[in-house]
Amino acid sequence: MAEIKKAKIGIVGSGLIGRSWSMLFASVGYQVVLYDILPEQVATALKQTQKELLDMEAKGLLRGKLSAVQQFSCISGTNDIKELVKGAILIQECIPERLDLKKALYKQLDDVVDDNTILSSSTSTFLPSLFSADLKHKHNVVVSHPVNPPYYVPLVEIVPAPWTKPELVQKTRALMSEIGQKPVTLSREIEGFALNRIQYAILNETWRLVEAGILNVKDIDSVMSDGLGPRYAFLGPLETAHLNAEGMANYFERYTQTIYNVSQTMGPTPKMEGPVAVDVAKQLNEMVPLDKLPERRNYRDNCLTHLALLKKKLNE
Ligand SMILES: NC(=O)c1ccc[n+]([C@@H]2O[C@H](COP(=O)([O-])OP(=O)(O)OC[C@H]3O[C@@H](n4cnc5c(N)ncnc54)[C@H](O)[C@@H]3O)[C@@H](O)[C@H]2O)c1
Ligand SMILES: *[C@@H]1O[C@H](CO)[C@@H](O)[C@H](O)[C@H]1NC(C)=O
Ligand SMILES: *[C@@H]1O[C@H](CO)[C@@H](O)[C@H](O)[C@H]1NC(C)=O
Repeated sequence: MAEIKKAKIGIVGSGLIGRSWSMLFASVGYQVVLYDILPEQVATALKQTQKELLDMEAKGLLRGKLSAVQQFSCISGTNDIKELVKGAILIQECIPERLDLKKALYKQLDDVVDDNTILSSSTSTFLPSLFSADLKHKHNVVVSHPVNPPYYVPLVEIVPAPWTKPELVQKTRALMSEIGQKPVTLSREIEGFALNRIQYAILNETWRLVEAGILNVKDIDSVMSDGLGPRYAFLGPLETAHLNAEGMANYFERYTQTIYNVSQTMGPTPKMEGPVAVDVAKQLNEMVPLDKLPERRNYRDNCLTHLALLKKKLNE
């Protein structure tokens, strides 16, 4: 029998990502409290979340074992930041990606938060040391970077600052696993974390192939979505290589020199601007006109939903 838990999670910023986190924590029965600098946004977020939970349930896509009504009963809102942090085991910060805003908010939290509360940031780009250095509670700050849409893409990158308490990193990781996400823990902070470093390496090379006129934008995307992507949805690049030879040692024997030779031809890091940027944007606007972006995002989310269900079924 699924149960409602007593522990409290605070969400700061009730936008796209804040709402996703609230649903994930409520899916296993945590008491989630939403806060936003705009009080009316909390009300809006609660309404949207209720509708989304019911929709998911109707489609058989609801996570966790509790009903949509039970899950929604775990989520509430407040306009008082003191009230938000009181007794919370973790605060998940989801405010806009601006360092000045983050710094100001963490100062504000620092004054009211308990010594044991985890301060977890959703930031996609800022190293945790950038906004925690001057805090009394700097040992409690960690990044938990989700991937959009978090309800269907389970990865969470956990990134400690140099001063983050190790046991707090472990606690955060355990919580992420408990809500059904897939945490990976970086041993130290590094620009771009892991996901964006890899994503940028891919963008970097796709840019170079388009710039050199070797493939157009549509075909570049095909290389990923029809070639590398299907495998990567199930196996990472290293296991892919392991299976593509008689094990990884054999893969290295066969391909180390080839990989090195090909990599030598890749040239310097490109800067993605100028006429090629204009042309790439033009090709993409032809593929997906700007007024069709919402439709295409729905398509993406629908694909990811079905892929998540398929993966679950295949791994049962
Ligand atoms: N959108 C994505 O794809 C994505 C993916 C991973 C991580 N993130 C990160 O998540 C964070 C939030 O992104 P989002 O897309 O949900 O943004 P969003 O603009 O949808 O939501 C931000 C919310 O924060 C509120 N807010 C602003 N200042 C505040 C303050 N001082 N205190 C409380 N609330 C405040 C805003 O009113 C708004 O409701 C960012 O750091 C972003 O980098 C976003
Ligand atoms: C981009 O690619 C070039 C070679 O193609 C490489 O030297 C550089 O390190 C790459 N940069 C990134 C961010 O991947
Ligand atoms: C790699 O390049 C070197 C030097 O050009 C060449 O001698 C060698 O045959 C190449 N090896 C492979 C596997 O491509």
